[in-house]
Amino acid sequence: MSTARRTHGFRESVIRGMTRLAREYDSLNLAQGFPNFPAPELLKTAAARAIQDDINQYAITWGATRLRRALAATYAQRYGLDADPEREITVTCGATEAMIATLLALVDPGDEVIVFEPFYENYGPDAILSGAVPRFVPLREPDWTFDPAELAAAFNNRTRAIIINTPNNPTGKVFSREELQQIATLCQQWDVIAITDEIYEHILYDGATHIPLATLDGMAERTVTINSMSKTFSVTGWRVGWAISPATLATGIRKVHDFLTVGAPAPLQEAAAFALKLGDDYFRDLSTHYVARRDRLLAMLERTGFRCYRPSGAYYIMTDISAFGFDNDVDFTQYLVQEIGVAGVPGSSFYRDASRARTKLRFCFCKRDETLDEAERRLAKLQVRA
Ligand SMILES: Cc1ncc(COP(=O)(O)O)c(C=O)c1O
Repeated sequence: MSTARRTHGFRESVIRGMTRLAREYDSLNLAQGFPNFPAPELLKTAAARAIQDDINQYAITWGATRLRRALAATYAQRYGLDADPEREITVTCGATEAMIATLLALVDPGDEVIVFEPFYENYGPDAILSGAVPRFVPLREPDWTFDPAELAAAFNNRTRAIIINTPNNPTGKVFSREELQQIATLCQQWDVIAITDEIYEHILYDGATHIPLATLDGMAERTVTINSMSKTFSVTGWRVGWAISPATLATGIRKVHDFLTVGAPAPLQEAAAFALKLGDDYFRDLSTHYVARRDRLLAMLERTGFRCYRPSGAYYIMTDISAFGFDNDVDFTQYLVQEIGVAGVPGSSFYRDASRARTKLRFCFCKRDETLDEAERRLAKLQVRA
Protein backbone atom coordinates (compact mmCIF):
# COMPACT_ATOMS: atom_id res chain seq x y z
CA MET A 1 0.00 0.00 0.00
CA SER A 2 1.32 3.45 -0.71
CA THR A 3 0.13 6.98 -0.19
CA ALA A 4 -1.24 9.31 -2.86
CA ARG A 5 1.23 10.74 -5.39
CA ARG A 6 0.60 14.27 -4.14
CA THR A 7 2.28 13.37 -0.85
CA HIS A 8 5.38 11.89 -2.44
CA GLY A 9 7.07 15.25 -2.89
CA PHE A 10 6.64 16.18 0.77
CA ARG A 11 9.41 15.85 3.24
CA GLU A 12 8.57 15.83 6.90
CA SER A 13 8.58 19.36 8.29
CA VAL A 14 12.22 19.89 9.24
CA ILE A 15 11.26 22.51 11.82
CA ARG A 16 8.80 20.29 13.65
CA GLY A 17 11.22 17.35 13.23
CA MET A 18 13.87 19.41 15.06
CA THR A 19 11.45 19.89 17.95
CA ARG A 20 11.20 16.10 18.26
CA LEU A 21 15.00 15.75 18.15
CA ALA A 22 15.37 18.47 20.77
CA ARG A 23 13.14 16.42 23.09
CA GLU A 24 15.01 13.20 22.31
CA TYR A 25 18.43 14.70 23.15
CA ASP A 26 17.18 16.95 25.92
CA SER A 27 18.35 19.92 23.89
CA LEU A 28 17.15 23.51 24.11
CA ASN A 29 14.65 24.15 21.37
CA LEU A 30 15.80 27.26 19.52
CA ALA A 31 14.37 25.65 16.38
CA GLN A 32 10.58 25.92 16.32
CA GLY A 33 9.12 29.42 16.69
CA PHE A 34 6.86 29.03 19.69
CA PRO A 35 7.25 30.96 22.94
CA ASN A 36 8.06 28.92 26.05
CA PHE A 37 6.79 31.65 28.36
CA PRO A 38 3.18 32.01 29.53
CA ALA A 39 0.45 33.54 27.37
CA PRO A 40 -1.01 36.83 28.66
CA GLU A 41 -3.12 36.25 31.78
CA LEU A 42 -6.01 38.36 30.45
CA LEU A 43 -6.31 36.14 27.40
CA LYS A 44 -6.33 32.93 29.37
CA THR A 45 -9.07 34.35 31.57
CA ALA A 46 -11.09 35.37 28.50
CA ALA A 47 -10.77 31.86 27.01
CA ALA A 48 -11.76 30.18 30.28
CA ARG A 49 -14.72 32.56 30.61
CA ALA A 50 -15.91 31.70 27.09
CA ILE A 51 -15.84 27.99 27.91
CA GLN A 52 -17.68 28.59 31.20
CA ASP A 53 -20.25 30.65 29.30
CA ASP A 54 -20.79 27.58 27.14
CA ILE A 55 -19.48 28.92 23.88
CA ASN A 56 -18.57 25.36 23.11
CA GLN A 57 -20.36 24.51 19.86
CA TYR A 58 -19.47 25.27 16.25
CA ALA A 59 -19.15 28.97 15.54
CA ILE A 60 -20.36 30.31 12.16
CA THR A 61 -18.05 28.52 9.75
CA TRP A 62 -16.33 31.71 8.50
CA GLY A 63 -15.88 33.02 12.02
CA ALA A 64 -17.71 34.22 15.13
CA THR A 65 -19.43 37.54 14.49
CA ARG A 66 -17.71 39.21 17.43
CA LEU A 67 -14.26 38.27 16.15
CA ARG A 68 -14.92 39.34 12.55
CA ARG A 69 -16.22 42.69 13.83
CA ALA A 70 -13.20 43.13 16.09
CA LEU A 71 -10.91 42.36 13.14
CA ALA A 72 -12.69 44.88 10.90
CA ALA A 73 -12.38 47.56 13.59
CA THR A 74 -8.70 46.74 14.17
CA TYR A 75 -7.69 46.95 10.48
CA ALA A 76 -9.72 50.15 9.97
CA GLN A 77 -8.16 51.85 12.97
CA ARG A 78 -4.60 50.61 12.52
CA TYR A 79 -4.17 50.77 8.76
CA GLY A 80 -7.23 52.54 7.37
CA LEU A 81 -8.18 49.28 5.64
CA ASP A 82 -11.91 48.70 5.22
CA ALA A 83 -12.91 45.06 5.44
CA ASP A 84 -16.57 44.08 5.54
CA PRO A 85 -16.89 41.56 8.38
CA GLU A 86 -19.94 40.00 6.70
CA ARG A 87 -18.30 39.29 3.36
CA GLU A 88 -14.55 39.82 3.41
CA ILE A 89 -13.17 38.17 6.55
CA THR A 90 -12.73 34.43 7.02
CA VAL A 91 -11.58 33.08 10.38
CA THR A 92 -9.46 29.95 10.01
CA CYS A 93 -7.47 27.44 12.07
CA GLY A 94 -4.32 29.57 12.14
CA ALA A 95 -2.47 31.27 9.32
CA THR A 96 -1.52 27.77 8.18
CA GLU A 97 -5.07 26.89 7.25
CA ALA A 98 -5.70 30.39 5.87
CA MET A 99 -2.82 29.89 3.42
CA ILE A 100 -3.80 26.43 2.18
CA ALA A 101 -7.51 27.33 1.99
CA THR A 102 -6.59 30.44 -0.03
CA LEU A 103 -4.40 28.53 -2.47
CA LEU A 104 -6.94 25.71 -2.89
CA ALA A 105 -9.67 28.27 -3.49
CA LEU A 106 -7.82 30.56 -5.89
CA VAL A 107 -5.22 28.55 -7.78
CA ASP A 108 -5.89 26.03 -10.53
CA PRO A 109 -3.52 23.11 -11.10
CA GLY A 110 -0.70 24.29 -13.35
CA ASP A 111 -1.00 27.95 -12.36
CA GLU A 112 2.27 29.51 -11.26
CA VAL A 113 2.71 30.99 -7.79
CA ILE A 114 5.73 33.19 -7.10
CA VAL A 115 7.48 32.48 -3.79
CA PHE A 116 10.49 34.34 -2.41
CA GLU A 117 13.39 32.12 -1.37
CA PRO A 118 14.32 31.49 1.43
CA PHE A 119 10.70 30.74 2.32
CA TYR A 120 8.68 29.58 5.31
CA GLU A 121 8.71 25.84 4.75
CA ASN A 122 4.91 25.31 4.53
CA TYR A 123 4.64 27.23 1.25
CA GLY A 124 6.26 24.35 -0.71
CA PRO A 125 3.75 21.65 0.36
CA ASP A 126 0.94 24.24 0.08
CA ALA A 127 1.86 24.71 -3.58
CA ILE A 128 1.95 20.93 -4.15
CA LEU A 129 -1.45 20.39 -2.48
CA SER A 130 -3.06 23.08 -4.59
CA GLY A 131 -1.39 21.86 -7.79
CA ALA A 132 0.44 25.17 -8.20
CA VAL A 133 3.82 25.39 -9.85
CA PRO A 134 6.04 27.42 -7.51
CA ARG A 135 8.40 29.90 -9.15
CA PHE A 136 11.15 31.01 -6.80
CA VAL A 137 12.68 34.47 -6.66
CA PRO A 138 15.76 34.82 -4.46
CA LEU A 139 16.08 37.21 -1.55
CA ARG A 140 19.82 37.79 -1.22
CA GLU A 141 21.79 38.37 1.94
CA PRO A 142 22.98 40.44 3.68
CA ASP A 143 19.81 42.54 3.51
CA TRP A 144 17.62 39.95 1.76
CA THR A 145 16.52 42.21 -1.08
CA PHE A 146 15.26 40.91 -4.41
CA ASP A 147 16.51 41.98 -7.80
CA PRO A 148 13.60 43.92 -9.40
CA ALA A 149 14.51 42.58 -12.87
CA GLU A 150 14.54 39.01 -11.57
CA LEU A 151 11.15 39.51 -9.96
CA ALA A 152 9.72 41.08 -13.13
CA ALA A 153 11.03 38.12 -15.16
CA ALA A 154 9.16 35.67 -12.89
CA PHE A 155 5.74 37.12 -13.87
CA ASN A 156 4.08 35.71 -16.98
CA ASN A 157 0.67 34.74 -18.35
CA ARG A 158 0.51 31.65 -16.15
CA THR A 159 1.21 33.57 -12.90
CA ARG A 160 -1.83 33.45 -10.67
CA ALA A 161 -0.47 34.59 -7.32
CA ILE A 162 2.56 35.76 -5.36
CA ILE A 163 3.18 34.96 -1.68
CA ILE A 164 4.84 37.67 0.42
CA ASN A 165 5.79 37.11 4.04
CA THR A 166 6.63 40.33 5.87
CA PRO A 167 8.08 40.58 8.53
CA ASN A 168 9.82 37.53 7.16
CA ASN A 169 10.57 34.10 8.50
CA PRO A 170 13.42 33.00 8.33
CA THR A 171 15.36 36.16 7.43
CA GLY A 172 13.84 38.86 9.67
CA LYS A 173 13.48 41.09 6.64
CA VAL A 174 10.72 43.72 6.67
CA PHE A 175 9.72 44.64 3.12
CA SER A 176 10.04 48.37 2.42
CA ARG A 177 7.34 50.51 0.81
CA GLU A 178 9.45 50.72 -2.33
CA GLU A 179 9.77 46.93 -2.59
CA LEU A 180 6.06 46.48 -1.94
CA GLN A 181 5.30 49.06 -4.61
CA GLN A 182 7.40 47.12 -7.14
CA ILE A 183 5.44 43.97 -6.28
CA ALA A 184 2.13 45.85 -6.48
CA THR A 185 2.94 47.30 -9.89
CA LEU A 186 3.75 43.84 -11.27
CA CYS A 187 0.60 42.32 -9.72
CA GLN A 188 -1.52 44.95 -11.42
CA GLN A 189 0.32 44.67 -14.72
CA TRP A 190 -0.12 40.86 -14.85
CA ASP A 191 -3.49 40.66 -13.05
CA VAL A 192 -2.01 38.59 -10.23
CA ILE A 193 -3.34 37.99 -6.68
CA ALA A 194 -1.05 38.88 -3.77
CA ILE A 195 -1.23 36.61 -0.74
CA THR A 196 0.51 38.16 2.25
CA ASP A 197 1.48 36.34 5.41
CA GLU A 198 1.72 39.10 8.05
CA ILE A 199 1.85 36.93 11.15
CA TYR A 200 4.81 38.89 12.65
CA GLU A 201 3.21 42.29 11.99
CA HIS A 202 3.81 43.56 15.54
CA ILE A 203 7.33 42.21 16.06
CA LEU A 204 9.54 44.96 14.64
CA TYR A 205 12.95 46.41 15.53
CA ASP A 206 15.16 49.43 14.91
CA GLY A 207 12.29 51.65 13.76
CA ALA A 208 11.05 49.25 11.05
CA THR A 209 7.38 49.67 10.14
CA HIS A 210 5.00 47.06 8.84
CA ILE A 211 3.10 48.06 5.72
CA PRO A 212 0.25 45.74 4.69
CA LEU A 213 0.43 45.34 0.90
CA ALA A 214 -3.37 45.78 0.76
CA THR A 215 -2.93 49.43 1.79
CA LEU A 216 -1.09 50.30 -1.43
CA ASP A 217 -3.15 51.91 -4.19
CA GLY A 218 -5.18 49.40 -6.16
CA MET A 219 -4.09 46.42 -4.03
CA ALA A 220 -7.01 45.87 -1.62
CA GLU A 221 -9.03 44.40 -4.49
CA ARG A 222 -6.36 41.80 -5.33
CA THR A 223 -4.79 40.97 -1.94
CA VAL A 224 -5.50 38.23 0.57
CA THR A 225 -4.10 39.38 3.93
CA ILE A 226 -3.34 36.46 6.25
CA ASN A 227 -2.58 36.72 9.94
CA SER A 228 -3.22 34.93 13.21
CA MET A 229 -3.22 35.03 17.00
CA SER A 230 -0.23 32.69 17.22
CA LYS A 231 2.70 35.07 17.39
CA THR A 232 1.12 38.36 18.49
CA PHE A 233 -0.51 36.78 21.53
CA SER A 234 1.94 33.91 22.18
CA VAL A 235 -0.75 31.26 21.67
CA THR A 236 0.53 29.10 18.81
CA GLY A 237 -1.57 26.17 20.06
CA TRP A 238 -4.89 27.99 19.88
CA ARG A 239 -5.13 27.76 16.11
CA VAL A 240 -7.03 30.96 15.38
CA GLY A 241 -6.13 32.89 12.23
CA TRP A 242 -7.84 34.81 9.44
CA ALA A 243 -7.80 35.79 5.80
CA ILE A 244 -9.05 39.20 4.65
CA SER A 245 -9.83 39.48 0.96
CA PRO A 246 -12.30 40.95 -1.52
CA ALA A 247 -15.70 39.24 -1.24
CA THR A 248 -15.27 37.68 -4.70
CA LEU A 249 -12.27 35.73 -3.37
CA ALA A 250 -13.65 35.21 0.15
CA THR A 251 -16.61 33.19 -1.17
CA GLY A 252 -14.17 30.54 -2.45
CA ILE A 253 -11.89 30.70 0.59
CA ARG A 254 -14.90 30.29 2.91
CA LYS A 255 -16.14 27.21 1.05
CA VAL A 256 -12.76 25.49 1.12
CA HIS A 257 -12.29 26.43 4.76
CA ASP A 258 -15.72 25.01 5.66
CA PHE A 259 -15.00 21.64 4.05
CA LEU A 260 -11.47 21.45 5.46
CA THR A 261 -12.16 22.29 9.10
CA VAL A 262 -15.73 23.64 9.58
CA GLY A 263 -14.30 26.28 11.87
CA ALA A 264 -11.70 27.49 14.32
CA PRO A 265 -12.18 26.74 18.06
CA ALA A 266 -15.29 28.68 19.14
CA PRO A 267 -14.28 29.75 22.70
CA LEU A 268 -10.84 30.80 21.51
CA GLN A 269 -12.42 33.00 18.83
CA GLU A 270 -14.21 34.83 21.63
CA ALA A 271 -10.94 35.27 23.49
CA ALA A 272 -9.35 36.51 20.24
CA ALA A 273 -12.06 39.16 19.88
CA PHE A 274 -11.24 40.28 23.40
CA ALA A 275 -7.46 40.24 22.75
CA LEU A 276 -7.70 42.47 19.68
CA LYS A 277 -9.07 45.19 21.92
CA LEU A 278 -6.04 45.26 24.21
CA GLY A 279 -4.52 48.74 24.37
CA ASP A 280 -1.74 49.93 22.04
CA ASP A 281 0.71 49.35 24.91
CA TYR A 282 0.35 45.62 24.53
CA PHE A 283 1.43 45.69 20.89
CA ARG A 284 4.28 48.17 21.54
CA ASP A 285 5.57 46.13 24.46
CA LEU A 286 5.81 43.07 22.24
CA SER A 287 8.66 44.60 20.20
CA THR A 288 10.37 45.92 23.32
CA HIS A 289 10.19 42.50 24.91
CA TYR A 290 11.61 40.77 21.83
CA VAL A 291 14.30 43.31 20.97
CA ALA A 292 16.08 42.53 24.25
CA ARG A 293 16.03 38.82 23.39
CA ARG A 294 17.17 39.50 19.84
CA ASP A 295 20.16 41.53 21.05
CA ARG A 296 21.00 38.92 23.64
CA LEU A 297 21.01 36.04 21.12
CA LEU A 298 22.85 38.10 18.50
CA ALA A 299 25.62 38.89 20.97
CA MET A 300 25.97 35.32 22.18
CA LEU A 301 25.97 33.83 18.68
CA GLU A 302 28.54 36.32 17.42
CA ARG A 303 30.79 35.67 20.41
CA THR A 304 30.59 31.95 19.66
CA GLY A 305 31.63 32.27 16.00
CA PHE A 306 28.32 32.53 14.08
CA ARG A 307 27.99 35.34 11.58
CA CYS A 308 24.49 36.79 12.04
CA TYR A 309 22.07 38.55 9.73
CA ARG A 310 20.48 41.11 12.02
CA PRO A 311 16.67 40.80 11.81
CA SER A 312 14.43 43.89 11.56
CA GLY A 313 11.34 41.90 12.47
CA ALA A 314 9.94 38.47 13.53
CA TYR A 315 11.84 36.39 16.10
CA TYR A 316 14.48 34.48 14.19
CA ILE A 317 18.14 34.98 13.43
CA MET A 318 19.56 33.51 10.24
CA THR A 319 23.25 32.77 10.69
CA ASP A 320 26.30 31.77 8.69
CA ILE A 321 28.10 28.75 10.16
CA SER A 322 31.21 28.70 7.93
CA ALA A 323 33.52 29.27 10.92
CA PHE A 324 32.76 25.82 12.36
CA GLY A 325 34.21 23.95 9.39
CA PHE A 326 31.34 21.51 8.80
CA ASP A 327 30.50 20.14 5.33
CA ASN A 328 26.91 21.31 5.40
CA ASP A 329 24.13 22.77 7.49
CA VAL A 330 22.43 19.43 8.23
CA ASP A 331 25.59 17.83 9.69
CA PHE A 332 26.25 20.90 11.80
CA THR A 333 22.64 21.01 13.06
CA GLN A 334 22.87 17.33 14.06
CA TYR A 335 26.13 17.98 15.90
CA LEU A 336 24.63 20.98 17.63
CA VAL A 337 21.53 19.14 18.84
CA GLN A 338 23.33 15.92 19.87
CA GLU A 339 26.65 17.14 21.24
CA ILE A 340 26.07 20.75 22.29
CA GLY A 341 22.43 20.46 23.35
CA VAL A 342 20.95 23.27 21.27
CA ALA A 343 18.47 22.78 18.42
CA GLY A 344 18.33 25.11 15.42
CA VAL A 345 16.94 24.66 11.91
CA PRO A 346 19.23 23.83 8.98
CA GLY A 347 19.11 26.64 6.43
CA SER A 348 18.36 24.21 3.60
CA SER A 349 14.81 23.69 4.86
CA PHE A 350 14.07 27.23 3.63
CA TYR A 351 15.51 26.67 0.14
CA ARG A 352 14.47 24.54 -2.80
CA ASP A 353 18.13 23.99 -3.64
CA ALA A 354 19.97 22.77 -0.53
CA SER A 355 23.35 23.78 -1.96
CA ARG A 356 22.41 27.45 -1.53
CA ALA A 357 22.12 26.98 2.23
CA ARG A 358 25.07 24.75 3.16
CA THR A 359 26.42 27.39 5.54
CA LYS A 360 23.12 28.63 6.97
CA LEU A 361 21.25 27.88 10.17
CA ARG A 362 18.28 29.59 11.80
CA PHE A 363 17.70 30.12 15.50
CA CYS A 364 14.66 31.57 17.23
CA PHE A 365 14.69 33.73 20.34
CA CYS A 366 11.07 33.62 21.57
CA LYS A 367 12.26 31.87 24.71
CA ARG A 368 12.51 32.54 28.45
CA ASP A 369 15.61 34.25 29.86
CA GLU A 370 16.59 31.01 31.61
CA THR A 371 16.50 29.16 28.27
CA LEU A 372 18.74 31.80 26.68
CA ASP A 373 21.08 31.70 29.73
CA GLU A 374 21.45 27.96 29.36
CA ALA A 375 21.89 28.28 25.57
CA GLU A 376 24.78 30.66 26.22
CA ARG A 377 26.46 28.15 28.54
CA ARG A 378 26.05 25.33 26.05
CA LEU A 379 27.09 27.29 22.95
CA ALA A 380 30.30 28.34 24.72
CA LYS A 381 31.49 24.74 24.16
CA LEU A 382 31.53 25.24 20.37
CA GLN A 383 34.94 25.43 18.73
CA VAL A 384 35.65 27.64 15.74
CA ARG A 385 37.68 25.61 13.25
CA ALA A 386 37.99 27.62 10.09
C1 LIG B 1 5.63 32.91 8.35
C2 LIG B 1 4.74 32.01 9.14
N1 LIG B 1 3.49 31.81 8.72
C3 LIG B 1 2.65 31.00 9.39
C4 LIG B 1 3.06 30.33 10.54
C5 LIG B 1 2.09 29.44 11.26
O1 LIG B 1 1.05 30.23 11.73
P1 LIG B 1 -0.20 29.66 12.55
O2 LIG B 1 0.30 29.18 13.86
O3 LIG B 1 -1.11 30.82 12.68
O4 LIG B 1 -0.78 28.57 11.73
C6 LIG B 1 4.36 30.51 11.01
C7 LIG B 1 4.82 29.81 12.22
O5 LIG B 1 5.98 29.74 12.53
C8 LIG B 1 5.23 31.39 10.29
O6 LIG B 1 6.47 31.60 10.69
